[in-house]
Amino acid sequence: MSLSMQEQIRAKVREGYGTIARTEQSCCSGASCCGSTPEVARELAVKLGYDPTLLETLPEGTNLGLSCGNPQAIATLAKGEHVLDLGSGAGFDVFLAAQAVGPSGKAIGVDMTVEMLAKARRNAEAFATRTGLGNVEFRLGEIEHLPVADSSVDVVVSNCVINLSPDKPRVWREIARVLKPGGRVAISDLALLRPLPEGATSLVDALVGCVAGASLVSDIERDIRAAGLVDAEISVKHEYVAVMENVGDSLYQQILALLPEGRKLSDYIVSADISARSSRAGDKHVPGTGPGGGDDARLHDEAPAWHQSSSCCGAGETGCC
Ligand SMILES: C[S@@+](CC[C@H](N)C(=O)[O-])C[C@H]1O[C@@H](n2cnc3c(N)ncnc32)[C@H](O)[C@@H]1O
Repeated sequence: MSLSMQEQIRAKVREGYGTIARTEQSCCSGASCCGSTPEVARELAVKLGYDPTLLETLPEGTNLGLSCGNPQAIATLAKGEHVLDLGSGAGFDVFLAAQAVGPSGKAIGVDMTVEMLAKARRNAEAFATRTGLGNVEFRLGEIEHLPVADSSVDVVVSNCVINLSPDKPRVWREIARVLKPGGRVAISDLALLRPLPEGATSLVDALVGCVAGASLVSDIERDIRAAGLVDAEISVKHEYVAVMENVGDSLYQQILALLPEGRKLSDYIVSADISARSSRAGDKHVPGTGPGGGDDARLHDEAPAWHQSSSCCGAGETGCC
């Protein structure tokens, strides 16, 4: 993809999330499939496994219902660790990570949308007042060009963001660059089991809504391995998208109309939990030589673990990306 095409995609994504940051619009507005009312966003987070008590510590307007998974559940953060959140939005996972790593640790969020960053920084002030923690920092930047030093981070988390990048191999290389030796990756994102029909990938709302740019699971595995990360595991979850197709969300209805008869959206799109780690200091990474006979990415296809009902648009619940 040419650089100008990449820039055009980033501009569309930036515009979409700038609007969401300014208006906190709901996906039920039909404008795009992102964002929810505070109540719906909270309910979605609880269904994704976030601790309701910890959610209470978040300043208002932090959880915009933009998540599609729970990276912290696979991150197992420890006190003193330095965590980097790619595409941190209004700060949702950053504030939770900051509490997990405590005052001796640090949580850094990177986002390219100025309005989101401004919102996150305002939220950081309220967060510091509520918790006494000053260990968060938000940096303006693109995840393809991280404003972060080499080998400086213990854990990279991200929630529903890498699908939005027009240069995903570069994002994975940047992750590998900033991780300390032995550092780890805990990422949730939308992924494809098979390519979407062409009409669906050209919908701008589908791009901003975390659908059109999603990668095939096999391409994610390839990018992780090519970046030199090891021990990759990808767990796919069908139920997240199944919920949305049941609820009449306008974007998902548009895409559904483009699918071959009899196909469901969840035959194509899934939520994926992705973990991997940087090879240890001095390790020379040789593909296929990891523990257990190889470091090839392992794919888990998980049985639905949470909600079959609920929803946003239509029945009134659920954030969409
Ligand atoms: C779906 S939202 C997720 C926000 C946050 N992770 C959450 O769960 O609340 C995507 C965020 O990623 C940011 N983003 C998208 N593409 C990006 C890129 N290439 N570089 C940096 N930030 C990006 C957007 O500005 C937006 O804030």
